[in-house]
Amino acid sequence: MSIVIVAGGAGYIGSHAIRELQNAGFEPVVLDNLVYGHRKIVENVLGVPLVIGQVGDKQLLQKLLSGEHSSTRGKDIKGIMHFAAYTYVGESVINPAKYYKNNLAETITLLEALLDDSKKRNSKPIPIVFSSTCATYGMPLETEIPIIETTLQNPITPYGRSKLMIEKILIDYHKAYNLPVSILRYFNAAGADINGDIGEDHNPETHLIPLVLEALFNEEGSIRVNGSDYPTFDGTCIRDYVHVSDLAKAHVLALNKILNDKSLSIYNLGNGKGYSIMEVIDTAKRVTGKEIKIFKSERRQGDPPVLISSPEKAKRELLWKTEFPDLESIIKTAWNWYVFNQNMKPKK
Ligand SMILES: NC(=O)c1ccc[n+]([C@@H]2O[C@H](COP(=O)([O-])OP(=O)(O)OC[C@H]3O[C@@H](n4cnc5c(N)ncnc54)[C@H](O)[C@@H]3O)[C@@H](O)[C@H]2O)c1
Repeated sequence: MSIVIVAGGAGYIGSHAIRELQNAGFEPVVLDNLVYGHRKIVENVLGVPLVIGQVGDKQLLQKLLSGEHSSTRGKDIKGIMHFAAYTYVGESVINPAKYYKNNLAETITLLEALLDDSKKRNSKPIPIVFSSTCATYGMPLETEIPIIETTLQNPITPYGRSKLMIEKILIDYHKAYNLPVSILRYFNAAGADINGDIGEDHNPETHLIPLVLEALFNEEGSIRVNGSDYPTFDGTCIRDYVHVSDLAKAHVLALNKILNDKSLSIYNLGNGKGYSIMEVIDTAKRVTGKEIKIFKSERRQGDPPVLISSPEKAKRELLWKTEFPDLESIIKTAWNWYVFNQNMKPKK
């Protein structure tokens, strides 16, 4: 079997990618510091080896890549999927150093280990699939919607900038060292695996869908809508929600592509459709059959009114098909997981 190292695999999107890698016949090995990841999901639910450590621990990376580590001994390492990052946009504005150190500096060390390994083996570096984000586009103009891969990238937060800087480094490394690279820019990941045993469990949670579901689950729950005077049809922000398992499938397709052609490729991953915050809340109410109180408050600084992807390039080149193209089916899977996960939590 061929190993894929999944950095940040104990997190939300990484854990879904592990399931798709398993379905495709790869053998995932997770590297995660567990600052935000879930050990039980990796070890008990997905049943894959977990190496607890930093992406920026060069010695550990060297051991993993050279097969000196017990989890990779005697096995062929095919690729790396790099999900590991801190992802709280607001925190990155208050504490940018944390984001540049963890997301950027640690990735540079990971790449150093990859290049050293390639030198030692005297062959091309191991391919890498990198988690980027629509936050690298910053505040696109109305005329730039839907966003294509060549739309100007002008991130407005340290989080977005840390991701864009890594993109640029990966492009340079591809040119200079033949590093096979796929950069995937996700829009809003949402939903949960159809089996309902893995899903979104960030702590703290800042994403809209899980927050709305939490409010719907708890009696007397409420949700705050930040800004209702945006230039959109109902005044609330519009986002492009993409199912996490669809994202995960795109990762396997992207990995297979660079395994074959050793290229550099960049894809937007979204559904190409936008839903307003109020539409998300209404759909969640319909799916769950429950009600919540809604409080409207001021706009949050730096929230673009509309972010919608054009996923056409990924569809064309990777033959990527989304199984969950509409919001309702995405929210149904998220609710299924939310209820399961709440019931699994120890009662206080
Ligand atoms: N969730 C989204 O909607 C979304 C959208 C665009 C991009 N992304 C990107 O996708 C990736 C995964 O996002 P997620 O929502 O699954 O986040 P997550 O927090 O659930 O997962 C990230 C994982 O990486 C681990 N990690 C962080 N820094 C690490 C380090 N230095 N070394 C080892 N492990 C480390 C965390 O413990 C966690 O398990 C991130 O890179 C994020 O920037 C996410």
